[in-house]
Amino acid sequence: MQAKGAHPSFTSRLAFIIVTAGSAIGLGNIWGFTYVAGANGGGGFVLIYLLALAFVAGPAFMAELLIGRMGKASPPNAMKKLREGAKAHLPWQGVAWMGLLSTILVLSFYAVIAGQGMYYGLVALQGGFEGWAEDAVVGLDASFRDAPLMMTFWSAAFMTATAIIVSFDIRTGLEGAGKILMPILFLMLLGLVVYAGQIGDMSSAVDFLFGFHDMQFGPRLFLDAVGQAFFTLGVGVGGIMTYGSYMGDDVNMPRATLWILAADLFVALAAGLAIFPLVFASGVDAAAGPGLVFMTLPLIFSDLPGGAFVAFAFFLLLTFAAVTSSISLLSPTVARLEEAGFRRGPSAAVMAFTVVTVSLLTIMSFADWRDFYPLAAIGLDGMTPFQLIREGVSNIVMPFSGLAYCLIIGWALKRGDVRAALPMKEGGLFTLWYGVMRFVAPAAIAALFIGAMLS
Ligand code: PFF
Repeated sequence: MQAKGAHPSFTSRLAFIIVTAGSAIGLGNIWGFTYVAGANGGGGFVLIYLLALAFVAGPAFMAELLIGRMGKASPPNAMKKLREGAKAHLPWQGVAWMGLLSTILVLSFYAVIAGQGMYYGLVALQGGFEGWAEDAVVGLDASFRDAPLMMTFWSAAFMTATAIIVSFDIRTGLEGAGKILMPILFLMLLGLVVYAGQIGDMSSAVDFLFGFHDMQFGPRLFLDAVGQAFFTLGVGVGGIMTYGSYMGDDVNMPRATLWILAADLFVALAAGLAIFPLVFASGVDAAAGPGLVFMTLPLIFSDLPGGAFVAFAFFLLLTFAAVTSSISLLSPTVARLEEAGFRRGPSAAVMAFTVVTVSLLTIMSFADWRDFYPLAAIGLDGMTPFQLIREGVSNIVMPFSGLAYCLIIGWALKRGDVRAALPMKEGGLFTLWYGVMRFVAPAAIAALFIGAMLS
């Protein structure tokens, strides 16, 4: 039990790692990584993505965790506390509030995609996918996207599950969910890679992901790769900051971060190695876009003995991966409402309802608004509301907040306080880390934005 009134924390180091890895590992790894890598032609994208993880999004992830650990409150109040301590003048809380707004935006499309995963689980439970041909699988994706009511229903179901978990205290809800769901997810994913290797075209998949092709390294590829690195770690909206505030004092943050980053990367690459062998063995286009996972994965199950059951298990697990992330996206606003005196249950319910309402923008983008480009007049032609939200948050808000976090840790707070909060010994390694935080990551993000604006 925790002392009453104390800021809550997870029970152990391992619990912190599992729950935070649960936040990082989500639809971004399975659904996002595969379709964005597919659309950007593979190899070169993966290389930039790896560099972005190591030198930009990874450091920003640590900066966000540290702000949470040092501020021990919801993002706006953690920022407020640190800003007062640093006697800074810039509006740090503004970054936190922008993050909170972005959690709603991310959840608004996350719920729709996760909802599709849940629906596919149900189709599988009814014996679906066994013996299905490619056309039928592609057709199911299209028919789901043509049915706004059904998409709304499944998004609401997903958000209800999220809100229920978040309404418990953090050790029962967030920690309980992560500890049960994450290990199962890992095992299932490994099984899928092995199976995809047997029935699919593994060598083309490996070549696609890790080989170099005739690639154009334009600003678009950089923006997508960096945006994907931020999204996959969940940096820049306050979810990680909130979990950082729940980190026990005994956690060695640099070591814990390495485990979390390694787990996240492992799942993204494993998802690629599960999905691309099937893409290349089937006629599905690698650049098919956000529906890629839903057009390929069911094909694995179609010829598998007992395929319907395995398919059900897989989509259930996709949903679990999504849930362990969505709870971290709902946590910051709920933590803020708690500080304002509201109880967790009603706060979670109100926020979930808000998310489902906003998710209509994504639902309609998949259905009747497929050709509706609201910002065409300012040069964003061809982008539906879903694309504007998805890319706006991943490629702009997240890197921008990441820049702010790195500057806060690297420049505004005292070097000694930062080192003690990590904790790390004074010496070469810390100096290197501090240099990345102060110079490398901020410069890379600034260069990215300048490059994107000039192109
Ligand atoms: N990292 C999650 C994923 O890859 O699906 C998404 C996410 C989680 C974004 C938590 C933001 C966040 F705060």
